[in-house]
This record gives sequence, structure tokens and C-alpha cells, in this order.
Amino acid sequence: MKLEKGYLFVLEGIDGTGKSTQCGKLEDWFSEQGTPVLRLREPTDGVWGKKIRTLLTEGRKGVTREEELEWFINDRREDVEKNILPALKDKKVVILDRYYFSTAAYQGALGLDSSSILATNESFAPKPDRAFFFKVPPEECLRRIHSSRDTVSAFEKKDYLEKVQSLFDSFNDSFIRRIDGSQSEDEVQLDVRKEIIECMKEGAH
Ligand code: TYD
Repeated sequence: MKLEKGYLFVLEGIDGTGKSTQCGKLEDWFSEQGTPVLRLREPTDGVWGKKIRTLLTEGRKGVTREEELEWFINDRREDVEKNILPALKDKKVVILDRYYFSTAAYQGALGLDSSSILATNESFAPKPDRAFFFKVPPEECLRRIHSSRDTVSAFEKKDYLEKVQSLFDSFNDSFIRRIDGSQSEDEVQLDVRKEIIECMKEGAH
């Protein structure tokens, strides 16, 4: 199906909410319909994204919160310029696993100012057509993470995830949709698809 414009759909939430699984299902759904789709994730696999992933697995090692924030923003600038804007211009659907709401929530939970993080990002990053905020209680997220992996990253501690969740809860924008991630995978996917169908009917931002 050829689209009149590009669409940016973002999936957000604390670790273990099931965003990545849902991104995969959405990508398949669009591909089956013959709709041009690009699935991306942040941190990316670019230079800055790689630095960030090393920091996540090996620990901060003297990198300050401010430097870390700068890395996330550099990574996003690159993603916006190289991947997101060109795909939107080509009238594709972009499915993005994490975006600047994660920076405002995760780096905000480290004590940095989440409103100014949002403002900085919105100065260069296009707003999404819809941002789905997945919500699952942090205890359940941690249980899911532990059952699927042996290692837990620095960002996956309960107190910290609770702070991150409360920041996600505090963000308000007309394009945000809150999704109950405790439902079955198929139910979650249906909720997201319903919103996407609605959004694409409206067409414009
Ligand atoms: P995640 O998508 O969970 O990666 P993986 O699929 O490899 O587990 O992202 C890695 C971590 O990065 C996650 O704990 C959230 C954190 N993060 C931030 O702190 N700030 C950001 O801006 C982004 C995009 C992610």
C-alpha cells in the first residue's frame, strides 16, 4: 500500500515491558500489507550507540551523567538525520523502539532535568505521529528480564525503574497513548494496531 505521507510510531516503556516484541509484530503486520516499513531502535548500532551499549554492560567507569546524556543525544541526531527523516520523506512507516522520551525518563531519573531534555530533543527530532507508552509494574518487568537473560544492566534496578516509570507517567502530549502491557502479547498488539489504524485514517499530524 502506497502512503500519502510518512508516519513515525514510537514504542516506549521501562525495560521488560515487551516493546521490542511488539515492534517486531508491527513490522510484520505492515510488511504483510505491502506497506513500506523501517524498524529502528535507540540506542542505535552507530558509533554513539555502540559506546552507549558498552557503558550499559560494563558500567559507567567515570563517564558522567551529563556525558552520557550527550551520547544519547548525539546518537539520536545521527539516527534522525541518517535514518528517520529520509524514511519519512520516502513516505515509509518508521517503527522506533525507544526515542527521546526514554532520554527524558531515564536520564531524568538520574537527576537531570527531564523538561529541558524534552526541549533539547524537540529542537531537532521530529515529533511522532503516535508514541505508545507501555506500562507493566516494575517487579513484573524485572521478573521477565531475569527469566530471559542472566545479566541485568545498570538501568534495570527496581528503584530506578520506578523513578523512570513515574517520569513516563508525567509526560503529556496529544500523540501519547498509554498501553497496558500486562495483557497478553496479542491483546497488546491489537490495542496498538487500533490506534495506528485510527491515526492513519486521520492522515495528518
Ligand atoms: P534497550 O532498548 O532496553 O536495549 P536492549 O534491547 O539491548 O535491552 O535500551 C537499552 C537501555 O538504554 C535501556 O535500559 C534504556 C536506556 N536508554 C536510556 O537510558 N536513554 C535513552 O535515551 C535510551 C534511548 C535508552
